[in-house]
Amino acid sequence: MHGDPLRKGRLGTGRPPAVAEFLSSMEADRWIAEADVFVDIAHLLMLRRQGIVGEMQATAVLRALVGMAEDGVPETAFDDRYEDIHAGIEAHLITIAGTDAGGRLHMGRSRNDEVATCLRLRLRQELLLHMKAVISLRGVLLRIAGAHTGSVMPGFTHLQHAQPTTLAHHLLGYEQAFARDFERLRDAFARIDLCPLGAAAFASTGYPIDRAYTAGLLGFPALVENTMDAVSARDFALEPLSAWAILMTTASRLCEELIIWSSAFVDFVRLDDAYCSTSSIMPQKKNPDTAEILRAKTGVTSGALVAALTCMKGLPMSYNRDLQDLTPHLWRAADTVSRCLPLLSGMLDTATFMTGRMHEEAGRSNSTATDLADVLVRDFGLPFRTAHGIVGRAVRMGFLTLATLDAAAREMADISLVGLGVTDDVIERALDVTFSVTSRDQPGGPAPEATAAFIGAHEKQLAADSLWVEETRGRIDTALSDLIQSAQDVVQ
Ligand code: ARG
Repeated sequence: MHGDPLRKGRLGTGRPPAVAEFLSSMEADRWIAEADVFVDIAHLLMLRRQGIVGEMQATAVLRALVGMAEDGVPETAFDDRYEDIHAGIEAHLITIAGTDAGGRLHMGRSRNDEVATCLRLRLRQELLLHMKAVISLRGVLLRIAGAHTGSVMPGFTHLQHAQPTTLAHHLLGYEQAFARDFERLRDAFARIDLCPLGAAAFASTGYPIDRAYTAGLLGFPALVENTMDAVSARDFALEPLSAWAILMTTASRLCEELIIWSSAFVDFVRLDDAYCSTSSIMPQKKNPDTAEILRAKTGVTSGALVAALTCMKGLPMSYNRDLQDLTPHLWRAADTVSRCLPLLSGMLDTATFMTGRMHEEAGRSNSTATDLADVLVRDFGLPFRTAHGIVGRAVRMGFLTLATLDAAAREMADISLVGLGVTDDVIERALDVTFSVTSRDQPGGPAPEATAAFIGAHEKQLAADSLWVEETRGRIDTALSDLIQSAQDVVQ
């Protein structure tokens, strides 16, 4: 095995292991080793096509690269004597194909455009997985909502009983938020899916390379054109980091609800045992640990975003080594999202919703008082503020009855509700939770027809989003398998 091929010219070879380790990105580079092989193959096919590298040398190096594409990058390439996987793979290629061939691969490029390309390749793959996981999660929410358009429950503001709603309405609120999270990922994807290769160190190259050809081989629809920006920008990483942080914040809010709902004094949900833990001392305990850890993981994704933003904020053009230190935050966050989303889907999918308990609570704390005020407005001509005051005063007296309401109306507005024709029956109907929910039939509201319409529209959107993910994945998979095929055709 050779030493680091990069260091043998300008620098003395000896350095303390602590320095080598400090400067190395090898651990994080496991994420991009496979991508680096694709990038090497695309670059080399281009060099060969442009006549920059001769047939024999190109074939020798391509043979070694195809070997790595088929069998994986060998462990020796990850040796910590190399600064990063780019150096490790180049050293491996020189070992296999000789310096005359292997030493020509790096013409017309730099690790700066190379790493930016690798990160984009791998990020595309991660984002497609995340988008698929968000689609599954939305599917679970839509399914549960579909079964509960008539399940009345209390809605809260300030965590106080506020107005009745339905379980469907509540969960669809999350589905809508996750649909936006999906859109953010897809938007980020569009700007990740651009090719920086050919920027070289930052000033491109004097070799007659063909940037568009390499981009096409790697399945990128277009270039990151300005070569300084191509190597130095990391907003393509900040965007998914931000989308993940927001996505995980949505997930964390939902987990918080499940935790509250599963406490004995609420008892709106029973989580499946598989997602719970018990206590080492209290034998009766069933704790919602999966939801708690999921809630906590927001710290990883928010932290990664802030760390990455902070890495970037002081960097002048163009490449700076600080950029390397941003990357582990990216993968840490990506991995967190990959692990959390399926767990959240599974936990929801297996949960039992206690609709009886929800119904019991739906009308508590005078939660239909707004409906009563609205009836006084709609059917008896009172101004809303007057009706609001009368009902509020009656609540303060302790009960919403004809007697208290009438007394409140006399006291506050010098009118008699009885005189206006308000009866016990009118009040009873106005305070009914089902009446409350079914009357709120505006688009996006809790009425069963409104939630059913919402579910129908969102199922369609979900199918379209799913198709987009499959088509995009297909486009990229085809490009990359064509790339390997082209390399195989050369070496056979
Ligand atoms: N490992 C480096 C990174 O992740 C690759 C680029 C190194 N470039 C350089 N000029 N030292 O950023």
